[in-house]
Amino acid sequence: MGKYTDELRKFVAPEFVFGSGAALLAGQYAANLSIKKALVVTGPHLEALGWPGKVVDSLKREGVESVVFSGVTPNPRDHEVMAGAELYLRENCDSIVAVGGGSPMDCAKAIGVVCTNHQHVLEFEGVDNVRHPGPPMICIPTTAGTAADISQFCIINAVERKVKIAIVSKTMVPDVALIDPALTVSMDAKLTAYTGVDALTHAVEAYVSNASSAVTDLNAIEAVRLIHRHLLRAVEDPKDMEARSGMMLASTYAGLAFSNAILGAVHAMAHSLGGLLDLPHGQCNAILLDHVVDFNFEAVPEKYSDLGRALGADISTGMPLDEAREATLDAFRSLKQAVGIKDNLCELGMSADDVGLLAENALMDACMLTNPKQPSIGEVMGLYEEAC
Ligand SMILES: [Fe+2]
Repeated sequence: MGKYTDELRKFVAPEFVFGSGAALLAGQYAANLSIKKALVVTGPHLEALGWPGKVVDSLKREGVESVVFSGVTPNPRDHEVMAGAELYLRENCDSIVAVGGGSPMDCAKAIGVVCTNHQHVLEFEGVDNVRHPGPPMICIPTTAGTAADISQFCIINAVERKVKIAIVSKTMVPDVALIDPALTVSMDAKLTAYTGVDALTHAVEAYVSNASSAVTDLNAIEAVRLIHRHLLRAVEDPKDMEARSGMMLASTYAGLAFSNAILGAVHAMAHSLGGLLDLPHGQCNAILLDHVVDFNFEAVPEKYSDLGRALGADISTGMPLDEAREATLDAFRSLKQAVGIKDNLCELGMSADDVGLLAENALMDACMLTNPKQPSIGEVMGLYEEAC
């Protein structure tokens, strides 16, 4: 920790309520924010699960009107954001409530700033490019991984360019996050595993990031410990509420860490895959994670050894570096194996012809800047090929 003492670091976080029953406080919080009519942003499969309906009822009980926008797909597209913004303005909404995983929450954040700035969503690309904050926003996550309810990030698919753009701004942090582990019980084993490894990737990339701090380290390492303790249990028994709460807490800690320390090569490469080939975010991260750990290890060996220990590896102080590296990699690979992640990028549809452009786009992604080691284009191509 000593090395951080002289460095300036800021830490941004929303107000959040964590625990069983948090989601049903939506009405109360909306009333506190003087909301009259909310746009409820969600996905079609979530509507079938009933959570958006329960949130709408909670709003109604407090006299808050709402209109539901469920036209959000995974890897939310720029035109979906613009359609949501049109509905918001047409219906005279004054606020947004997002119910869902990363896609509805990111779409909701983008809809908000499109409406208050009267600009196209793609004009906000980059860091601190949003002039006016969005309307009041409440986020209610239904997965334990993305932490979009906490973060300053919003990732949108620019369809024509076939890239995912990042909007990074304090205006992307919602006013309130209502984090209710009970909402994650309906995730199947696969989604639990992919979203859980997404949370792990957030914690790992934040911990080794060039922009890490004492506060982000604290959150990141505890997230990894919690994931080690709870992810496999949640995958094996989806109804295990203690494991679900542990994973939701891990996701929140990891969100607090990465929102402020930014991410690294795994996310840069996963964003590139999501943009060009429309592949699922969590699955791409899960496939790439150990390959990037292997590549990055030498840049920050002590930090990776801490992460290995948090995942249960027996790494003693003074252990030769190559042994610590193997033990750390073993810990990551064992967890992936245990939760059933065995796929590779070629099975998902990546071909040798895609690798050059994927690597080019990954190198331009904002997340690559905070990776502890700057790879060459050939090295990024090599990482994609290894993950095939
Ligand atoms: Fe992620």
